[in-house]
Amino acid sequence: MLRAVPNLRLFPLDRSVPSFPLVGHAPAFSRDPLRLVTRLAAEHGGMAPVQIGPLRGYVVSEPELVGEVFTSKMKHYTRRTRVYEAMRLFLGVGILTSEGDDWRVHRRIVQPAFHKKRLESFATDIVAITDQELKRWTGELDVSDAMMKLTLRIVSEVLLGTKTAGDAADIGRAVDDSQRYVEGIMSAVVPTPRWIPTKRNRRLARSLVVLDRVAYGIIDERRRSGERGDDVVSMLLEARYEDGSELAPERIRNELITLMAAGHETTSNALSWTLMRLSQHPDVARRLEAEVREVLGDRLPTFEDLPKLVYTRWVFDEAMRLHPPAWITGRLATETHELGGRTVTPGEMILLSPYATQRRADLWDNPEGFDPQRWEALSVRGALPPFTFYPFGGGTRKCVGEAFAYLEATLLLAMIAQRVRLELVPGHPVVAAPQITLGLKHGLRMHATRRSSTPTVAEAARSSA
Ligand code: HEM
Repeated sequence: MLRAVPNLRLFPLDRSVPSFPLVGHAPAFSRDPLRLVTRLAAEHGGMAPVQIGPLRGYVVSEPELVGEVFTSKMKHYTRRTRVYEAMRLFLGVGILTSEGDDWRVHRRIVQPAFHKKRLESFATDIVAITDQELKRWTGELDVSDAMMKLTLRIVSEVLLGTKTAGDAADIGRAVDDSQRYVEGIMSAVVPTPRWIPTKRNRRLARSLVVLDRVAYGIIDERRRSGERGDDVVSMLLEARYEDGSELAPERIRNELITLMAAGHETTSNALSWTLMRLSQHPDVARRLEAEVREVLGDRLPTFEDLPKLVYTRWVFDEAMRLHPPAWITGRLATETHELGGRTVTPGEMILLSPYATQRRADLWDNPEGFDPQRWEALSVRGALPPFTFYPFGGGTRKCVGEAFAYLEATLLLAMIAQRVRLELVPGHPVVAAPQITLGLKHGLRMHATRRSSTPTVAEAARSSA
């Protein structure tokens, strides 16, 4: 657990952003953390002092410094922040929460699940599941809920190779409740101890029972049947450490839950925001539909189509620029060192926020505008300075699922554009929910109509002219 570190040296806070004695920016952080990080970045530069209750540190949004934190200076930090420690309560020790040799050994075991050859074979299954689920997208629905179900099914069935259909609702709720627990910790000045039977604590306890039941159920079932495939469960069961020993069931459980949790809500939120933006920018939606029609016509997409779905990818990147699912991540200094001309001391936190960097007016033209076309110039190698756009983090701890997420998102967006027209229900409030990932506070109520045909590129260009 992150300790409050007595810090007696003078700690200059930016007074233009409201901050109070003892609690510092805590009220502003719990009221509107997105506004706080963007204001600190805009008004106090790329390394802005911040104090959230007893925790002190910096919001770092300067790309060069972000790069240093992720790479050359990473040895000065631990990720055992308050939030990561809270995540350990439900994920256990797995590749998201571990460090050092323990992390290195297990990342090496999990990484091959995401190799290109495997991704190719995943594409067919992702398309088949999406084809089934999209049939249910009719009339008025909460698209963020439907997307959560779809991405959970995809990560469980395609990546882990398990049918969780019967448990899907339970798993979804358990992951959700566990994350709400972590969010409670994130925004509290002083977190409530776990033994006090608050609603959140009780829900966490219930979630652990469900997650254990599902994960150990999968492991036992595979062990019993002896069945092995091209999936993560098989890989984890067959993996051996250097001394020839197997992974303990608890470790396999932790890696499975980590992949389920890290691998569905992030992608789901990114896609929901993309669909929200498309509903507000019909010209962009038309161009997307036209590309899909040109590349796919009426057939289902395949892995080979991905390089041709260029505009689809720009749309997704532009939505992630404005609404990065992992909108903030933290590190805790373990040693005194220099960063951006300041001395960082042990116990100070470094908050890295792609949300703040990716909306900085001095780094981006029209930073608040949704303009997928900007990626035409930015996708040229070297055009985008490193760590100006980092929705997947960076350095050796960069997201292991990045390629999987792009594969999934591109296929899903293409299939949605091909089949369904989505319109925001008039009056539905679109409000960001900056939790562990960047969700939508009131969901995303949309009206879905099945499409009979999509326009050609030429038709789309004519209608947006
Ligand atoms: C749009 C989708 C996604 C986004 C934006 C995203 C973002 C991130 C970020 C920013 C990190 C680094 C966190 C840090 O440095 O503190 C991370 C780590 C991780 N992500 Fe993702 N992620 C996405 C999808 C996925 C998927 C699909 C999976 C797996 C199926 C996944 C699994 C993981 C894991 C296991 C880690 C920990 C890696 C390590 O520390 O070695 N993510 N993700």
